[in-house]
Amino acid sequence: MTASESATSSATDDFTPIRYADGVLYVLDQRQLPAHETWVECRDEAQVADAIAKMVVRGAPAIGCTAAYGVAIAARRLAAAGAGARAFRAGLDEAIERLRATRPTAVNLFWALAQMRDAAAVALTGGTPGDAAAALDRRALAIHAEDVAMCKRIGAAGAPLLPDDGTVLTHCNAGALATGGYGTALGVIRAARAAGKRVRVIADETRPYLQGARLTAWELVRDGFDVTIIPDSAAGFLMRRGEVQCVVVGADRVAANGDVANKIGTYQVALAAAAHGVPFYVAAPVSTIDFETPAGDAIPIEERAGTEMFAHTGADIAPAAAHARYPAFDVTPADLITAIVTDRGVVRPPYGDSLRRAVCDA
Ligand code: MRU
Repeated sequence: MTASESATSSATDDFTPIRYADGVLYVLDQRQLPAHETWVECRDEAQVADAIAKMVVRGAPAIGCTAAYGVAIAARRLAAAGAGARAFRAGLDEAIERLRATRPTAVNLFWALAQMRDAAAVALTGGTPGDAAAALDRRALAIHAEDVAMCKRIGAAGAPLLPDDGTVLTHCNAGALATGGYGTALGVIRAARAAGKRVRVIADETRPYLQGARLTAWELVRDGFDVTIIPDSAAGFLMRRGEVQCVVVGADRVAANGDVANKIGTYQVALAAAAHGVPFYVAAPVSTIDFETPAGDAIPIEERAGTEMFAHTGADIAPAAAHARYPAFDVTPADLITAIVTDRGVVRPPYGDSLRRAVCDA
């Protein structure tokens, strides 16, 4: 991977953290925000996998789009090297396995890789590896464009749920940075503002990676929103004082029964919301729904290295001899979720039936 710094791009609904041109993927390095806007260049699938594993790019839908481009890049390389159909298939499988192994919780990764595998199989039926590489380029671009379109539909579906004048709390970053563009939870907030609502945002800082403070605040400030960062531990206190009218978060995986895996800390926010009668909404595209996983307990939860807990912006914040654990996600049970806002509309409990109807009847 090589990196280059760019001037601050302007605020727009069309912002994307991933750009693809001529077989090269450029991803905005989210580890550097808000201090630096650095774009990292990925020229092979190993670099793409590294960018996902090291959280250069993060957020479930953005990981899916990135992985799709990783497969397209591998396909170009294999076709350019003159691989025959069998070697092309084997090389592609290897690239897909490498990308699959990067992060375990966000199901969009596996969804996008399955889409790419299917597209390759279709293209290779009667086509050459060169045809398949071209088809995979087009499929990756389409997955990215579809993701943005899904976010905009989520926004349109969810905007009516937000108060005409009020404060929305969000956790982690489920915005343009976490998707192909526009965002899921932040897409709902963007669409509500576009519909004329006066929405103020509270962003949980989201320790330890600080997706809320660094990323959600960055993109909302850039777009002229009123955003206030709070310590994660302040959410319940502010709800008790009536300062939060609703919660909107994203999701890494929605199980068939409506249980939702999202960034660690989401479950506590949902518990506090339930205790204070604050509506708790999850915004996610259908690519985040996993009907193969019956309930939240079966969702694989990533445990990142405890060492990520020991330093904060370069300074030691804990004694090195202490133990540390960093479960990166938690599961919010379906009964704490007021509604799930999808690109196919707003889905309400009981989710076992309503999720299937939303996806299958569309
Ligand atoms: O570890 P991250 O930053 O990839 O976790 C991201 C989240 O938990 C997001 O809320 C989720 O992926 C939804 S993004 C639209």
